[in-house]
Amino acid sequence: MAEAGTARRVGIVGVGVVGASFAYALMQRGLADDLVLIDTDTARAEGEAMDLNHGLAFASPMRIRAGTYADLSDAAAVVVCAGRNQRVGESRLDLLRHNAAVVSEVVPHVQLGNRSAVIVIATNPVDVLTHLAATLVGSDGRVIGSGTILDTARFRYLLGEHYGVDPRSVHAYVVGEHGDSEVPLWSSAAVGGVKLERFVGPNGRGYDQAALDGIFEATRMAAYEIIRRKRASYYAIGLGLVAIVAAILRDQHTLLTVSTRLRGVYGVEDMALSLPTIVGRRGVERVLDVPMSPAEADAFRRSADLLSEHRRSIT
Ligand SMILES: NC(=O)c1ccc[n+]([C@@H]2O[C@H](COP(=O)([O-])OP(=O)(O)OC[C@H]3O[C@@H](n4cnc5c(N)ncnc54)[C@H](O)[C@@H]3O)[C@@H](O)[C@H]2O)c1
Repeated sequence: MAEAGTARRVGIVGVGVVGASFAYALMQRGLADDLVLIDTDTARAEGEAMDLNHGLAFASPMRIRAGTYADLSDAAAVVVCAGRNQRVGESRLDLLRHNAAVVSEVVPHVQLGNRSAVIVIATNPVDVLTHLAATLVGSDGRVIGSGTILDTARFRYLLGEHYGVDPRSVHAYVVGEHGDSEVPLWSSAAVGGVKLERFVGPNGRGYDQAALDGIFEATRMAAYEIIRRKRASYYAIGLGLVAIVAAILRDQHTLLTVSTRLRGVYGVEDMALSLPTIVGRRGVERVLDVPMSPAEADAFRRSADLLSEHRRSIT
C-alpha cells in the first residue's frame, strides 16, 4: 500500500450535486492525477465521469472514472458526499438517522482497501457523522469534517460585502456546529489586523452592532435560504472541499475551520466540531487554541453539548 500522500489519487463517494461540484472544481485546479467516482447509482457516477472527461481538453490532464472501492487503494484523500440532503424546513440534524447508516456503510468499505487515506466527510449532519467516521476508522487525525468552512466563507463574504473589502482580507471564523448552534468569533474578527470595533471600510462603514448581528444571522440561515430557492447548495461547498483536499495533497499546513474529534478542548470531552485547524498530508496537524471571549466559549460548549446529545441518539 502506498504511503499517505504519495499518490495524487482522490476518491469521491456520493456523486450527487455536492460530489459533482467538488469534482468539477477539483479538475479545474490541476491538483489530482486520478479521480475515482463511486455512487450506489452507478449510472450517475458514469454519467458524471463522462461529462467531466469531455471537459479535459480545456483543463489539466488527469484520469477521471466511475469506479468501486477497490479503485481507492492508494488514494490520498476520499471525500464522502453520499446521503440525503435537507428538504425545505428540515435542519441538518433531521438527516441524522438516514445518513448515519450511509456513513456506517461507506467508511468500512473505504477502510478495507485503504488505511492511509484522509477521509473527508461532507455529508450532513457533518459533525456527528465526522465523530462516527473517526470512531469507525479508529483515528481522530485521519478523519476531517468540512465543518464550518462554508459558514466561515459565507461570513467572510458577507462581512467583505458590508465593508467593501475582499473576503480574503477578512479574518473571521465561525466555529462549533455546522448548523443552527454555530458560533461567530467576533472577539478575534479583524481586517488586516484591525479589530472590527475599530475598522472603517473604504465605503466609510464602521462599527454597527445591528448590521453585524444581521450578517451572522444571514450566515446561519444561508443554507435554508438557498434550499428554499434552488433545493440544494453545492458550488461553495465544492470549492471548500477543494481547499481541504489541496491542503492534504500538497501538505500545505493550511488553517481551516474543519470539524475534528476534540478531546478536552474548551471543556469538550469527546465530540467532533469545528475550530481553526491546521491541515496537512496526514490530516489534522493541530487544532488551534483560538482565543474566545467567555460568552463565545460558553456558546461553543453549548454547541458541543447539543451535538453530543444527537450523537448519543445513534449509539
Ligand atoms: N458539509 C456541507 O457544508 C454541506 C453543504 C451542502 C450539502 N451537504 C450535504 O452533502 C450531502 C449530499 O448532498 P447532495 O445535495 O449532493 O445530495 P444528492 O442527493 O444530490 O446526492 C447524494 C448522492 O449520494 C448517493 N448515495 C446515497 N447513499 C449512498 C451510499 N450508501 N453509497 C454511495 N453513494 C450513495 C446518491 O445516490 C446520490 O447520488 C447531504 O448530506 C447534504 O446535506 C453538506
